Amino acid sequence: RATLGSNGPLAGVRVVVTAGPTREPLDPLRFLSNRSSGKMGYALVAAAIDAGASVTLITGPTALTPHSEASVIGVESAAEMADAVQTAVQDADVLIMTAAVADYRPASVAEHKIKKSSDDLTLNLTRTTDILASIDRPGLLKVGFAAETTSLLDYARDKLRAKHLDLIVANDARTSMGSDEGWAYLLEPGKEAEEVGPTSKAELAEVIIDRVASLLRSRRT
Ligand code: CTP
Ligand code: CA
Repeated sequence: RATLGSNGPLAGVRVVVTAGPTREPLDPLRFLSNRSSGKMGYALVAAAIDAGASVTLITGPTALTPHSEASVIGVESAAEMADAVQTAVQDADVLIMTAAVADYRPASVAEHKIKKSSDDLTLNLTRTTDILASIDRPGLLKVGFAAETTSLLDYARDKLRAKHLDLIVANDARTSMGSDEGWAYLLEPGKEAEEVGPTSKAELAEVIIDRVASLLRSRRT
């Protein structure tokens, strides 16, 4: 699709997108992470910029190159991402959280390399902050993603409600994580789920950005 820029549906809109996995350190060499590639988030950054938005990308480690016009903040842990999001949303209109944020981190980080000894090693993990649930800036449009392997729509609807979201994009983590394919359900409060795809993540991103634009329009009227 053409770059619409200042004529686009998101002209003048400030969007924060999070993408990729987080890394939760265990010791100076090791971390816990997940299979997120960041592709969905980076596709959303490009679609939002093409629609005229100014975009801040807060990204965990990925192998991707972000759109050249995005302001990029690189983070590693869930705690770092939480801090960066808190700051970035202060002057944003939209928050889109595609990042696969770790739900647990090691309860303590060893100062030195953990040496192997016994046959078993038990890790103590502790909950991270739920970034999306903790952000409640009035007027901020919040978009979440739900990655599930079962009961997709039920879990997604629960998250939509619990985190006070305007839109949630629900997909099957087994096929979506790492792939170029986009296939998801879009859920809004009080509406029927709408299936998008199978298509590319680039096209799914355009559909999501169009939906964000129409949600912003319907707020203004
Ligand atoms: N999320 C977040 N902070 C976390 C965990 C998740 O902001 N610590 C966001 C994700 O970026 C996503 C949404 O919440 O937009 C849903 O993430 P998901 O992992 O699907 O759901 P959880 O609420 O973490 O529940 P669970 O993993 O138990 O299904
Ligand atoms: Ca989670």
